[in-house]
Amino acid sequence: MIGVFDSGVGGLAAINELRKITKDIDVSFLADRKNAPYGTKTLEQIIEFSKRNIEKLLSLGAEKILIACCTASAAYPYLSEREKSVSVPLIDLAASRAVEIANGGGIGVIATKRTVEERAFSEAIAKISNNASVFELETQEFVSMVESGARDGNLTLCDRQKIARALAPLRDKKIDTLILGCTHFPHIEKEIQAVTGAKTVNPALEGALEISKIASLSGNGRTIYV
Ligand code: DGL
Repeated sequence: MIGVFDSGVGGLAAINELRKITKDIDVSFLADRKNAPYGTKTLEQIIEFSKRNIEKLLSLGAEKILIACCTASAAYPYLSEREKSVSVPLIDLAASRAVEIANGGGIGVIATKRTVEERAFSEAIAKISNNASVFELETQEFVSMVESGARDGNLTLCDRQKIARALAPLRDKKIDTLILGCTHFPHIEKEIQAVTGAKTVNPALEGALEISKIASLSGNGRTIYV
């Protein structure tokens, strides 16, 4: 069994991707709604929530844990060696994919307030490419929009206007590839693509691909909501 955690429905984006890879794997999903949203919390709080979530999932029998949250993944470097050894964070995976597909073009990142303040994606990209141009933009408001039910296909005019307004600063930045740097955002990926015209990188997909390589995929296809 693998464990998956997020502050909320972002975790479902990762589980959706995982189920496309294998229907058999058993998943325990912890949505830490009590402490949501993560993006407005301090780094210290995010470290504490992540440690607690990992311990909880391990105690329920998870062998590996997908940190299906970019904000919590930004806190990964501060976990203990034991916690790190069982966990798969998203930042480096998404950064590598973005560098690969941008092929020298500009990389945009939309993410929560905490992830942008930590410069998590910029630093991860700088480790693998010394000439990539990166522009990070906080779009924390998308988290509550998605938690309230906004999805591609059912967006209200008001949601669409809010999304367009929030993404306007990307317009003159020559963005080739945009990292959806929060796992809530794949739920509105088509709208984001339509507004920006950029190729998108979905960290939830990258995380699902990675954990499927290292965890045992056998099981009964159960999803247990913790
Ligand atoms: N889905 C999360 C992320 O990837 C957290 C969003 C939030 O709770 O602010 O960052």
